[in-house]
Amino acid sequence: MIKKIAVLTSGGDAPGMNAAVRVVIRTALYYGLEAYVVYDGYRGLVDGNIIQVHKEFTQDIINRGGTIIGTARCPEFMDPKVVKRAARNLKDLDIDALVGIGGDGTFRGLKDLAEAGINVVGVPATIDNDVASSDETIGFSTALNTICECIDRIKDTSTSHQRCSLIEVMGHHCGDLALYSSIAEAAELVVTHDHHLSDEEICKRLRKLRVQKKGHAVVVVSEKLLDIRALADKIREDTGFETKVEILGHLQRGGAPSAHDRILASLMGSKAVECLVQGESKKIICMYHNEVIVRDIDEALSMKHDSHEEMLKLVNILQ
Ligand code: F6P
Repeated sequence: MIKKIAVLTSGGDAPGMNAAVRVVIRTALYYGLEAYVVYDGYRGLVDGNIIQVHKEFTQDIINRGGTIIGTARCPEFMDPKVVKRAARNLKDLDIDALVGIGGDGTFRGLKDLAEAGINVVGVPATIDNDVASSDETIGFSTALNTICECIDRIKDTSTSHQRCSLIEVMGHHCGDLALYSSIAEAAELVVTHDHHLSDEEICKRLRKLRVQKKGHAVVVVSEKLLDIRALADKIREDTGFETKVEILGHLQRGGAPSAHDRILASLMGSKAVECLVQGESKKIICMYHNEVIVRDIDEALSMKHDSHEEMLKLVNILQ
């Protein structure tokens, strides 16, 4: 039976991470365990930046964006010697279990720690929604709402001026934020890794809109896919549309988590601790058809992301 449990957040922060940290600590205390937080993700684990926390630590954090225990990108964690040092730091404090909150990169780190003798469970949290094993990740709903709010504002001005707005949204290599926001915003076009349109095709469709006397257009583009400024130049030249580029950037990641993300985080984080209490390890907590389920880490990491055929079909109907 485990006695001490630690929690860390890793990778890009996501709204709802604090709600997950909160519930991990509270569930651990509920089961009579000592609770610890690791500051700054795997970097803090390697540096031994670990402190014991009590219930007071969890007060007034459920509504806060970002992660109050910090996060980091830690490529050094690929080195087995670094993983060993991190595991040693936990063992020196007699911490037997770790909950890692983040994306697939975080889970690969957990897998390595499991091989170094630590009980581990992962909780998916990233705005990108690119954890294939889970229908949804903590932070996605909030980021989607933020993007929609931004596009609503951009539309107010672009329709007034009859402009074309090229809007780049985050997602790493996953098009979910672009796809979902384009549907919610009735965008004229969306371009993602799974719904790729050539520059020529984009211009052709925009020219057609001009002929139909549509005075403005919103084109949502996934990041890391194309040079959005070069595309804007091409649209201006080919279609005559006055075109503005809007790269939404990190504001998509900030802000108070939606009620949905707070609840998702609470359900998944609590389940993570229960798994560890029941003696399970090397697991990922996932949403599957609106239920919280538990998958083996190897199975989870080998899964392929759903390309959302139904939504892509809808895009073809609507755009
Ligand atoms: O994974 C979340 C994310 O916001 C991606 O959408 C984006 O590509 C990346 O992180 C940006 O990372 P950073 O904040 O380290 O620049």
